[in-house]
Amino acid sequence: MNSPNLLCRSLNIQYPIIQAPMSGVTTPELVAAASNAGGLGILGAGRMLPNQILDAIHKIKNLTNHTYGVNLLLAPPDKNEADKEDLFDVQQFLDNKFRQNLGLSPKSNQKTGITLPSSILLEQLRVITDEKVPLVSFAMGDPVKDVKHIHSTGAKVMSMVTTVEEAINVVRNGTDIVVVQGAEAGGHRSTFDIDPDEEEIPLIGTMPLVPQVVDAIKKEGRTAENIPVVAAGGIADGRGLVAVLALGASGVMLGTRFLVANESGAFKAYQERLLSAKETDTVVTKVFTGRPARGLRNSFVHVYLKSGSKPLTWPIQLLATNDIYAAAQQQNNAEYFPLLAGQGLRMLKKGQSAAKIIQEIMAEAKETSSMLNQMLRTL
Ligand SMILES: Cc1cc2nc3c(=O)[nH]c(=O)nc-3n(C[C@H](O)[C@H](O)[C@H](O)COP(=O)(O)O)c2cc1C
Repeated sequence: MNSPNLLCRSLNIQYPIIQAPMSGVTTPELVAAASNAGGLGILGAGRMLPNQILDAIHKIKNLTNHTYGVNLLLAPPDKNEADKEDLFDVQQFLDNKFRQNLGLSPKSNQKTGITLPSSILLEQLRVITDEKVPLVSFAMGDPVKDVKHIHSTGAKVMSMVTTVEEAINVVRNGTDIVVVQGAEAGGHRSTFDIDPDEEEIPLIGTMPLVPQVVDAIKKEGRTAENIPVVAAGGIADGRGLVAVLALGASGVMLGTRFLVANESGAFKAYQERLLSAKETDTVVTKVFTGRPARGLRNSFVHVYLKSGSKPLTWPIQLLATNDIYAAAQQQNNAEYFPLLAGQGLRMLKKGQSAAKIIQEIMAEAKETSSMLNQMLRTL
């Protein structure tokens, strides 16, 4: 495909619209539907076991012949073990405030601590490269060690960054496509290094970050100039696509808009909550997993933040809270689950397929750009 758009050319896709990888939500049906509609779907495989990833890849391959991607998370654990007293305090807090309400057994009386299982990242990556997945996407770190091997399978490497410095590093280390994640984005911040004792993290919006990354990559020289920049965070319609193209990006990556797609794996109460949410309803917090993530302010967030109770470190906080999230999802209870979401909430639409979302965004983008053309001509 000889598209004038750098991203479309690089991935051999028709439209510069990417369905963001979202752990636990991006079903093979969603990924394939986004790719079949001319965009690109990415499977969020960060929390999947290697055999689950294999199964999902087989399903995607059965559903589409188009380019698709698989995403992994690179952030190493902040600590390998939780301090016994901290763990007891957190478990007691979780017992009293959440487990009781969900009918779950208490955990603070258990003698065993939480020890992290060993990393499965290498095995996850092996499945992806053995299966010759066309695009391997990463968040929360620089995939420098893996780029060569991934390229040897013919695949492209995509990295999600939150600062200019992270962007320059991944480009120098061989990444083919840079996703710029603005502070508006739903889900975890992709920030590479986070000090577990610091509350503050860089929260640069999509609007200022995209052009600064584009300029910095240009300064890297001619090879880097061919690296498409993709904007993510708070973008949910065709106006957003045109806006970031104007900032120098080659395309968009949307997460939250696809959370309410017909093919999404988000449970019903989560989707309903998203559809009635306002732009003021989200917060960036460590209480879900120990790493900063943007999500809706439900009872879990509200009670946690009000209590002043400190969450455990990444990803021990996730291991400590997993039974609560699993029960909430099973009970279709949106109050005790991480309702990860970005700020573009009032732009969400109910009952649309991924294909419809992509078609609508393209139609709006074309309309917006001709309106802009007309307006600028008369100035
Ligand atoms: C529910 C949810 C889960 C996410 N999980 C992942 C993930 O597993 N890997 C990843 O790279 N990004 C993940 N993200 C972040 C997206 O890649 C993307 O940066 C974000 O959705 C863009 O902002 P938006 O939601 O406002 O469109 C997730 C986002 C959401 C909303």
